[in-house]
Amino acid sequence: MQEKLAEIRAQALDSAKQAATVQELTNAKVRFLGKKGELTQLLRSMGQLPPEERPVFGKLVNEVRDELEEAWAERERELFRLEEERRLAGEALDWTLPGRKPLRGTLHPITQVINEAKAIFTGMGYEVVEGPEVEWDYYNFEALNIPPDHPARDMQDTFFFSEQLLLRSQTSSVQIRTMEHRKPPVRIIAPGKVYRADADVTHSPMFHQIEGLVVDEGITFADLKGTLQLFIERMFGPEAKARFRPSYFPFTEPSAEVDISCIICGGTGCRVCKDTGWLEILGCGMVDPRVLKIVNYDPDVVSGFAFGMGVERIAMLRYGINDIRLLFENDVRFLKQFAR
Ligand code: FA5
Ligand code: MG
Repeated sequence: MQEKLAEIRAQALDSAKQAATVQELTNAKVRFLGKKGELTQLLRSMGQLPPEERPVFGKLVNEVRDELEEAWAERERELFRLEEERRLAGEALDWTLPGRKPLRGTLHPITQVINEAKAIFTGMGYEVVEGPEVEWDYYNFEALNIPPDHPARDMQDTFFFSEQLLLRSQTSSVQIRTMEHRKPPVRIIAPGKVYRADADVTHSPMFHQIEGLVVDEGITFADLKGTLQLFIERMFGPEAKARFRPSYFPFTEPSAEVDISCIICGGTGCRVCKDTGWLEILGCGMVDPRVLKIVNYDPDVVSGFAFGMGVERIAMLRYGINDIRLLFENDVRFLKQFAR
């Protein structure tokens, strides 16, 4: 029986060494050490031995079992390590592959135009202020010399919440809010959203304006014209063609509107400029003395000019956008063209 034990031991050690995978190793272990394994069976047949030899043989079998268990555990660790190495080799990284760039957003063209206008005007000493989009009729109309029932209210198709409360139709409301709590000299711009029941290729129901207001002693129309000419040159470049056209606003006198030569058609006429060759970008004028009186400024001492420009119109002319609605559709193919 001792020979048989030696034989089993040798075979078992050999099969552990031969096992090429953890699975093969487990199979071999069952074959020798399992419930019906060869070593277990040998132990059961011990009854055939004379009683005095049994303890010695039993001890031998146990020693062999311990030895085999240790051998298997050792081989198992080795196989795990080999399998891990094989797996890692198959997964090797290719350091030469180009990286994947994360998608980067871009500033919306409207934001870019507003930022640029802010830079131009703050460079001329203006301060940037803001006012609310939900506004009282008083600031949007009345204090701007547009009483209830005044026909000038029809110039801007306004969204009303109630008789007194509305969505501001122009940033000119911020002129009043500013002058109400400051003394001259005043030199501000006020960018922001405004709302009108308006919609076509150059009109949007929500759009952006940048209001400008300067009040001081001795301000003249020449200051207004020079300021806007400088702005236009910085925004559109020295070749841009601009014209001042007489106009009417209840809160300025005299008043004008400024058109820029349509860059969509080069001035020959198209649906953007309604075949005129020009696109209106702003309204402006000398602050009406009646408005100065409403905010307790003395029109005999100070004078001022104001302007309100359409940001979307400026963006259309700068970037050659032929429909204002493109600015609000958030089509990524459109927006990513404005990456810088
Ligand atoms: C005004 O809103 C006056 N508050 C401007 C002003 C300010 C005059 C200060 C005098 C002193 P107007 O309605 O023309 O004026 O609008 C000004 C500009 O906003 C227009 O020249 C145009 O560029 C733009 N605009 C007007 N309506 C729309 C619209 N629905 N969609 C996009 N832009 C518009
Ligand atoms: Mg106008």
